[in-house]
Amino acid sequence: MTSPARPGARVLGFGTYRPVRVVTNDDLAQRVDTSDAWIRSRTGIATRRIADADETTVMMGTAAAEKALASSGIDPADVDLVIVATCTSPSQIPGAAPQIAHRLGSGTAGTFDINAGCAGFCYALSQAADTIRAGSARHVLVVATEKLSDYTDWDDRTTCVLLADGAGAAVVGAGERDEIGPAVWGHDGSRPEAIRVPGLGDNLFRMEGQAVFRWAIGLAPALRRICERAGVAPEQLAGIVPHQANLRIVEALANSLGAHNAVIARDVVDAGNTSAASVPLALSRLIDAGELRRGDPVLLFGFGAGLTYCGQVIRCP
Ligand code: UT7
Repeated sequence: MTSPARPGARVLGFGTYRPVRVVTNDDLAQRVDTSDAWIRSRTGIATRRIADADETTVMMGTAAAEKALASSGIDPADVDLVIVATCTSPSQIPGAAPQIAHRLGSGTAGTFDINAGCAGFCYALSQAADTIRAGSARHVLVVATEKLSDYTDWDDRTTCVLLADGAGAAVVGAGERDEIGPAVWGHDGSRPEAIRVPGLGDNLFRMEGQAVFRWAIGLAPALRRICERAGVAPEQLAGIVPHQANLRIVEALANSLGAHNAVIARDVVDAGNTSAASVPLALSRLIDAGELRRGDPVLLFGFGAGLTYCGQVIRCP
């Protein structure tokens, strides 16, 4: 084997899909004992998008991927690998990745799904970057697509007010310099019951909200390690995009860094918690709004079921 010069990895473009239907807090209050005031004060959520029957994980993921490819200027046929992060596939088998690759026309791509709960996009992005750096692919398509509404107990007020649907995608390719920093990750596998969809007869999402909340807030030191591994000081960050679990968690994690120049993603306010899709949805919104520009360093951080987490600093496309 020869050792050619190692390429850098960078994100070439993002794409998103948000379901058409908007569900308000008042809509939910007609079914469960809750209120707009409670939901806003405890979660920051005002509205969320809930997919209709034809908006499947594969449909939403494909739509987000098409936009990411278009914004990257990459032909689907030039995608060598499709990685789909999801924890809400309608079936255990087959995975979503081959179906999305087929719909896109990425006929020669390798395909696989990963399930790392709400941390899925950041794990998948890390795998995509390493695949590019290793020279195993020219372009990797990362798709995070979630239809949490399929697994929501609409009579459980502690979870139904949080969960939502959507998809985000990124195209990763080679660049002269590395624009996707090293991943920092970890887990606490001692509490598998903290967030679960048991399966085998019980397909509904359950969460020990307070326990997860405390664990998530305690991850603040990981954000500092992500900056250190990337060689970026917190005050150099232009943006912070934590998983959009709950606005209180988003703000606590982001504020813990003292990144005074960084815009903080608050997509949760009208998108709810879309699990793995939340990081690319929230990041794309900041880019589309012109709040982040090409080359800006942004910290991404996913955390959730497992319990597991992963994050990295990337440069905006
Ligand atoms: O995405 C994966 C990662 N997920 C997360 O990071 C989510 C982490 N957890 C959370 O975001 C929060 O814990 C929740 C939003 C789930 C709950 O907020 P909280 O401030 O931790 O509320 P709590 O569980 O301490 O409940 C406070 C009270 C309880 O009533 P009592 O026992 O004090 O009488 C709950 O029964 O609020 C009640 N409650 C509600 N009241 C109105 C719980 N849910 C609701 C509701 N509406 N929807």
